Amino acid sequence: MSFVPGLEQVVVAETEVSFVDGENGRLVYRGEWAKDLSEGHSFEEVAYLLWNGHLPSAAELEVSQAVWSQQRELPQEIQAVLDAIPHETGMMSVLRTAVSALESQAYAYPPTVEQAAAITMKLPTIIAYRYHRLKGTTPVASRSDLGHTANYLYMLRGVEPSPVHVRALEAYLILLMEHGMNSSTFAARVIASTRSDIVSSLTGAIGALKGPLHGGAPSHVMNMLRGIGTKDQTEAWIRNKLESDGRLMGFGHRVYKTTDPRAVALRELALRLSASDPWLELAVHVEEVAIRLLEEYKPGKKLYTNVEFYAAAVMNAIEFEEELFTPTFAVTRTVGWSAHIIEAAQGRLIYPDAAYIGKLPAAAAGATTP
Ligand code: ACO
Repeated sequence: MSFVPGLEQVVVAETEVSFVDGENGRLVYRGEWAKDLSEGHSFEEVAYLLWNGHLPSAAELEVSQAVWSQQRELPQEIQAVLDAIPHETGMMSVLRTAVSALESQAYAYPPTVEQAAAITMKLPTIIAYRYHRLKGTTPVASRSDLGHTANYLYMLRGVEPSPVHVRALEAYLILLMEHGMNSSTFAARVIASTRSDIVSSLTGAIGALKGPLHGGAPSHVMNMLRGIGTKDQTEAWIRNKLESDGRLMGFGHRVYKTTDPRAVALRELALRLSASDPWLELAVHVEEVAIRLLEEYKPGKKLYTNVEFYAAAVMNAIEFEEELFTPTFAVTRTVGWSAHIIEAAQGRLIYPDAAYIGKLPAAAAGATTP
């Protein structure tokens, strides 16, 4: 048995949920191009696809939307949990705690599409409720006449959202809804494989997504752009970072050895939304310089822009505060996680091995192997 650090290229499951083609920069959800889905479909349609394996008919969509939109309200005890969490706790930790507190008989093993939908519907409400509490404003009740995306914006802002913002956020949510065997999905699948419940699996996944090497990167991208400040500082700033062995946030990917297709789609979206925004102009310039310098400092490593770089740009263009960036990623990735949880809950227990490199007890020390 050989040790593979980070499980790079180790196949740990067979899945029908999505295909990440890292060499060619392509992403498929259950037989459909993710980019095409993001341009012509709603959050609900793509969630239905990931959970059920096919896009819904008009009748299936109507029934699903009607059932799902009734599941947005938070139980009183979850509101009490949210109120009890100290104000300084970050939104991802709040989300993890609130999702964990949802656990009840309704979410007992085995995981189902109905359970997945009921939890997915509540994530925007958790975030919006907490957001208002922190600002000292009154939480806004959901509106069942609005789709999932529009309702999220409505609950945050308390006013009818602009169609441009709804479409941009919907495209963002669809592009980030699912992505193969990334770290948080793997965490979810490990927990599901023990026959634990869907709430436990999703709680673990949110904890994994929070990390700055995974879903926590976009606010670090913002910090980087703020640190660079102006186009003429870009090259010096990046050289300095790479010479001190630092990482450029929003660049590099375990699977993509070319530009992440989601970054391409989000860049197009950001440029459509706010082409003349000086901040976006800076981001495009930073991307060009960074790719050139990454090739110089890390030759042959194939480090390109990942989804997080332009996720920050799109979030910025629709006027989301940074504290909402990663939680909004979790709002949508819950769909992909739960599709995997349902799949993994029927599979074999995931229980890999480790090579022991520590000391042996004295009596066994003469032995050459443990
Ligand atoms: N900046 C500078 N160097 C980098 C970067 C980067 N962003 N990413 C990788 N490298 C270098 C490493 O220093 C290493 O070089 P070395 O071999 O000379 O030591 C080499 O490329 C390989 O790096 P690993 O860390 O082994 O690659 P891994 O596949 O484990 O990491 C990761 C992938 C975590 C995404 C990495 O590229 C990174 O840290 N990027 C910045 C954080 C980020 O943007 N995360 C979001 C990813 S997308 C998502 O999860 C939704």
